[in-house]
Amino acid sequence: MDNRPIGLMDSGLGGLSVMRVLHKQLPTESLIFIGDQGHFPYGTKSQEELQRLVMNIGDFLLAHDVKMMIVACNTATAAALPLLQEKLPIPVIGVIEPGARAAVAHHPQTVGVIGTESTIKKGAYDQTLHRLDNQLTVYSHAAQPLVSIVEHGQTGTPAAQAAVDRELTYFDNHPVQTLILGCTHFPFLAPEIQQKMGPDVLLIDPAFETIKQAAATLTKQNLLADQETGTIKLYTTGDRADLVAGAQQWLAGQFDSCEHTDL
Ligand code: DGL
Repeated sequence: MDNRPIGLMDSGLGGLSVMRVLHKQLPTESLIFIGDQGHFPYGTKSQEELQRLVMNIGDFLLAHDVKMMIVACNTATAAALPLLQEKLPIPVIGVIEPGARAAVAHHPQTVGVIGTESTIKKGAYDQTLHRLDNQLTVYSHAAQPLVSIVEHGQTGTPAAQAAVDRELTYFDNHPVQTLILGCTHFPFLAPEIQQKMGPDVLLIDPAFETIKQAAATLTKQNLLADQETGTIKLYTTGDRADLVAGAQQWLAGQFDSCEHTDL
């Protein structure tokens, strides 16, 4: 049993889509989230830059005595997961392998992946999906502009639907049965994405399988919390008010504190 917090990170609000699942599934766990809004967006940065930023965040979370780190960002997972796992003395879990596994579990023949420029360029999902099922047809497509729609609180608007329609036209000619939301910002646009893709396309939010993996690791290593309820502390390298607004919307205001920090 271990009541130290679990640390989560993202470039921005996207990580909250993983955090909301974690809090729901494991409400006794204390959580520390850091949104690196001061360096947003991640999806257009180089691998070297991403590795530097993400290692800094790993150190920040370690200094806050976390027992596990969840990289609640596909771009950071693709760029730095092996590095984090090598350097940090705690379990580190990413979102890509769980997302790929969740998709393959439905036995599709064609899978689509949407993500940031960096994630799609790196081909991280393609490689993982093909390792799991080498018969699979994978269509990957970058949809970077959708990240800003979420970060700037514009979900649920006609502008958001128009942006989704525009960014996903690629799939008009590349039909898929299953679509992986390969950026943690995108589950917040699920209604718009479902509207564009049609009711028959199954959307995969990697958060659920990621938290399943986290729970299994905590159980196996005897690290589960033993307390009535966990606390939620939020940090941002950007504007505190923006993260507060995001957490009001996406965590239904369920957090104990929110602070700015420089990294
Ligand atoms: N939410 C992140 C992801 O899952 C990154 C978005 C960005 O900053 O470009 O990839």
